[in-house]
Amino acid sequence: MTVYPECVELTDVCLRDGLQNLETPIPTEEKIVLAEKLIEAGFNSMELCSFVSPKWIPQMADAANVVETVKKLDKAHKVRFIALIPNLKGMERAVASGVDAVTYVISVSERHNINNVNRSCAESFAQIKELKKIQPQEMTLCLALATSFGCPYGENISPECVLNAVRTGLEFGADEIMLADTIGAANPAMIERVLEAVLKFLPPDRLKLHLHDTRGLAMANYLVAAQMGIYRFEASAGGLGGCPYAPGATGNAASEDLNCMFTEMGIKTGVNQEKLLKAVAYIDSILPGCTTSSNWKRISGAPMRISCGA
Ligand code: COA
Ligand code: ZN
Repeated sequence: MTVYPECVELTDVCLRDGLQNLETPIPTEEKIVLAEKLIEAGFNSMELCSFVSPKWIPQMADAANVVETVKKLDKAHKVRFIALIPNLKGMERAVASGVDAVTYVISVSERHNINNVNRSCAESFAQIKELKKIQPQEMTLCLALATSFGCPYGENISPECVLNAVRTGLEFGADEIMLADTIGAANPAMIERVLEAVLKFLPPDRLKLHLHDTRGLAMANYLVAAQMGIYRFEASAGGLGGCPYAPGATGNAASEDLNCMFTEMGIKTGVNQEKLLKAVAYIDSILPGCTTSSNWKRISGAPMRISCGA
């Protein structure tokens, strides 16, 4: 019989990956309400924002304000707050904000890295040393390897490319690694191949997975990863999101789908599905038509009957 982790750690990334693609600025107050609802749902890990150039991503211009306000909501400090950073300036801003962890993004694909952060992969890797110099002891530096399963510009991404990036990142001092399927190109066999290679270098407690659901394969991909002992996953409430520098990339995997799958399988997530659906309903109210929540709306209020073989 397949062995699964007893519990999994879900990080909601809606406030960053979910919102970054939207042209209409979302008022800071609405971001705070959403954060409050996600905390209330029980996420003990959340990505709140990115400290990137406001010229590139105007939606994140209020990042410092969001972190400052949301931290005050979590008086018992139960939640690990994360911010994405693209460079040293982002790290300086993240340190000043007091987030618990940063996600430093480098793409496995050279072209995507240039389009996303305006520098070569080698330059991005070399900068990890500079980040380490100002990293507070209690802060975690997670290296997110974007385009780990496919590149929007057609570059060939093999498991060896990913493995090389993982090893380079660890050599430069990343505390943990996240493999990101930026455009939703992965399938379960690819996940298995890449994770098999990476797990030889890194224990599951230092590895995270961030998947997009472009082709409806995200849940199958998460499941295969869980079967391999991976238990730290990122997803976005309402399936909101997409990378502005990855043409064609659609939404993230939905946190509510992932939470439903694991919870109904008896795997603890710590996240209350009903409360999470309330957060999704709030997103629907401020961003009508942007979430993937229509199926949930149809069944909410009527518990699904689950029968074997049906
Ligand atoms: N936060 C705020 N401002 C920043 C910044 C940061 N992290 N990094 C650079 N800047 C500012 C500089 O101070 C400078 O400002 P000025 O014109 O007022 O002097 C300006 O941006 C240009 O700086 P430069 O270092 O030349 O940046 P760039 O134009 O080469 O852009 C990045 C590099 C990394 C800042 C930009 O590509 C970026 O923000 N990318 C993020 C993309 C993203 O979020 N993708 C989705 C998530 S993976
Ligand atoms: Zn993403």
